[in-house]
Amino acid sequence: MTNRKGFPDGFLFGAATSAYQIEGHAYGGAGPTLWDSFAAKPGKVVNGETGAIACDHYHRFEQDLDLLKGFDAYRFSTSWARVLPDGKGPINQQGLDFYDRLVDAILARGLQPHLTLYHWDMPAALDDLGGWTNPDVVNWFGDYCDIIMGRIGDRMASVATLNEPWCVTYLSYFLGHHAPGLRDIFATTKSVHNVLKAHGEALARLRSHGQKNLGIVLNFEALKPASQSGADLNATRCYDAIMNRMFVQPVFSGTYPEPVLDAFAPHLPANWQDDMAMISAPIDWLGVNYYTCKTVVAEPATPWPHLGFISSDQPKTQMEWDICPEGLFEILHWLQQEFAGAMPVFITENGIALADTIKDGIIEDQTRVCFINTHLQQVQKAIDHGINVKGYFYWSLLDNFEWAFGYEKRFGLIHVDFETQKRTPKSSFYHLQSLATGAKNTG
Ligand code: NOJ
Repeated sequence: MTNRKGFPDGFLFGAATSAYQIEGHAYGGAGPTLWDSFAAKPGKVVNGETGAIACDHYHRFEQDLDLLKGFDAYRFSTSWARVLPDGKGPINQQGLDFYDRLVDAILARGLQPHLTLYHWDMPAALDDLGGWTNPDVVNWFGDYCDIIMGRIGDRMASVATLNEPWCVTYLSYFLGHHAPGLRDIFATTKSVHNVLKAHGEALARLRSHGQKNLGIVLNFEALKPASQSGADLNATRCYDAIMNRMFVQPVFSGTYPEPVLDAFAPHLPANWQDDMAMISAPIDWLGVNYYTCKTVVAEPATPWPHLGFISSDQPKTQMEWDICPEGLFEILHWLQQEFAGAMPVFITENGIALADTIKDGIIEDQTRVCFINTHLQQVQKAIDHGINVKGYFYWSLLDNFEWAFGYEKRFGLIHVDFETQKRTPKSSFYHLQSLATGAKNTG
């Protein structure tokens, strides 16, 4: 049965955040992360900004969660370096206590807590040892997951091992745009394989403790070729493997997609095939992050993967990303057909950065309202086609630290003045809140 807003009973409306982007990493005895090391290098992060203060959510989480009145669910992450300042070894009890209070505060407001265990904040001490390229990271991560879940696992609605492994690996070790900023195919291959193993290790450990509802959050882009030429079609197939299949295929099918395997094979560890069973252990749900689409063109004269992107005339976000809601349905349909089948799927992130301005204390962000509406229409279409979409989390609750872009790009439903820490809900916030409330009351 669907309610008057067109969503099935039990469909979750939520908002998402991540630890390093909002908490204020300078507080509560957290150890440095690789983003602190990265931002210290000139030119890596806009204005050399970090998550040191961010939204000061560490002190303001109660008020921030109050804002989620009428929503069903909240997606957040725990910070590895807050709980284990050196990545392994002594625990920072203050950090664990913080997450304990946070989870109780989420529940006290009638919200479901949806946890992500890794949202890009590798402890600097472990990054110094090679981070995701070091095979020991698999056990380091497993130990960290055990510690977190030992404290808050009893209250989680769902748990994701990792957020957007494509960014953790390809964007960070191959393109060099994110910390640690390498451009190295050897390191990339190692990081991809170790991230996948870390996912498998976390699943095995959490299952052994009886933890339920485990998944992973992957990011996807809708792709189309610049032309029907063989070269452009091949380039699109290759980028599809890199962007869309590099993680979902190993996780669901225990294999690497072909064009990726061709490039990675010489750099994979000996007997890597033996790891694919743990990597493809069953999950309970799939998280889909969707923001944009791309037009792919062959560029044979450039290094692997010999391709580029053509700028389209689609409207763009503050990130210069194309706005293409139809791509969300395409991705959900493809995932259902090829991998997820009837498995529950959550839109774990979808959102738009805009150069929001406040006028007389009001932020009219109609473009964001429209973005949310048009993407939710695609979610409805997916549900109408029998795709098992269980919820939609807007990215993000608050304007926050947008990684290499610092504080310039604003994704929030709530405007944050980073000088005063004043929160101002935008029009889009009231819009999504009313959808959430309406959807709940009329189910
Ligand atoms: C994906 C990431 O999970 C999140 O951390 C980031 O801020 C948003 N996309 C927007 O780029």
